Amino acid sequence: MLKVGVLISGRGSNLQALIDAAHAPDYPAKITCVISNVPDAPGLIRARAANIPVETIDHRAFKSREAFEQALDKKLTKYGVELVCLAGFMRLLTPRFVTNWRDRLINIHPSLLPAFPGLDTHKKALAAGMKTSGCTIHFVRPEMDHGPIIAQMEVPVLPGDTEESLAARVLEAEHKAYPEVVRLIAEGHVNIHEEQVFIGGDSALAKSVAVP
Ligand code: GRF
Repeated sequence: MLKVGVLISGRGSNLQALIDAAHAPDYPAKITCVISNVPDAPGLIRARAANIPVETIDHRAFKSREAFEQALDKKLTKYGVELVCLAGFMRLLTPRFVTNWRDRLINIHPSLLPAFPGLDTHKKALAAGMKTSGCTIHFVRPEMDHGPIIAQMEVPVLPGDTEESLAARVLEAEHKAYPEVVRLIAEGHVNIHEEQVFIGGDSALAKSVAVP
């Protein structure tokens, strides 16, 4: 069982998807803790309901990013975390933290990276007249929304789409893709070579990957 720590700041719908997946008896990963930098993040309710240990580390209580991250590291170590999943975690992590967790730290982003890093991805995708969008799960590198891409799931942009309707369609893809990627990592199917990810095994997700 791969021990997973999930970092959130808000709603936690991706956390919920991971929790639901981990309920399956044959799922090879276990969420050992959920950590939020926002003390009243709604996602924490989901973790508590699933009896997963919850920690809140309010970044405002720390003098520096480094001090905040030291506290974070301490908790991740306490729960024996082997893979950190960012799931709507809204703090930038320092190169030091990212390097320390290199290749053991992944993020989900609601666009087909490298298109539209940062915030307001759906607004940007609509403004650009994109015909497809989707989500990306990638290993984290110091630069925001950057790093070796593990998987992408594509969805259409439909005529008349609003930010909300596109966000909902992308989110549905996120909820399918994130647990599948964690499963692939836990099963040892995900390898990085020269900053490119290679997925082994007979994964349906690997076959449905959309390359931008
Ligand atoms: C998701 O769209 C994710 O891709 C992005 O932040 C959002 C988090 O949503 N990084 P939730 O908190 O998982 O519902």
